[in-house]
Amino acid sequence: MKSPLRLGVNIDHVATIRNARGGPHPDPVRSAHMAAEAGADGITAHLREDRRHISDSDILRLTEEIDLPLNLEMAATAEMLEIAIRHKPHATCLVPEKREERTTEGGLDVAKAKLLLKDYVAALSEAGCRVSLFIEPDRRQLDAAREIGAPVVELHTGSYCDASAEARERELTRIVEAAAHAQSIGLECHAGHGLSYATVKPVAAIPTIAELNIGHFLVGEAIFTGLAESIREMRRLMDEARSL
Ligand code: PXP
Repeated sequence: MKSPLRLGVNIDHVATIRNARGGPHPDPVRSAHMAAEAGADGITAHLREDRRHISDSDILRLTEEIDLPLNLEMAATAEMLEIAIRHKPHATCLVPEKREERTTEGGLDVAKAKLLLKDYVAALSEAGCRVSLFIEPDRRQLDAAREIGAPVVELHTGSYCDASAEARERELTRIVEAAAHAQSIGLECHAGHGLSYATVKPVAAIPTIAELNIGHFLVGEAIFTGLAESIREMRRLMDEARSL
């Protein structure tokens, strides 16, 4: 039997729209309630250092008001560590963060920052959070993640999603091989970034991937079809790919 594939709905860009006007609407917590009803298995939110989308009070309300597991994406900084330990989300995903970037461009260089990241993995695990590291689908990064004690990795699917038609198969192969390697060294494997209806199925079909985290496309598509429908359709495509 194939393993189930969880969908984590990233609600950052509901907050992006809210913050464009500075008022309370649209409320990301309301979108998290809708996501739960539409079939999401978890809610993902990235509290950035510059608070450009999700705010501290959003995180507080998500932990208090939403029954689904919260996956807090965060940079490996002392400030974020303190916030994670205070709120104790179900999961944390350590991501690289640069102020000037538009979104998370590329994965963590775990192999280079082993000493720093090891302490974060230990502190977050001790606080009871499942820790994942957002990395490129690269064997060296997977081995480094294993070495520093991370139980989970999330493979960055951005290069695959952005690839030209000719390059896409090669990028997909990198993800397939990385997911197989993750399993062989005992890491739970997730994937995400840039996934859409057009790109999700080949990734969802990889049997060793346990969770996909998807946001921007779902919120964008919600303009046309509504959020519940965009999530339901993504869920349907994921389930279809898994059942083949
Ligand atoms: N996973 C991680 C670790 C991310 O940083 C992001 C983007 O915030 C996503 C998944 C979701 O990417 P997208 O919004 O492009 O679906």
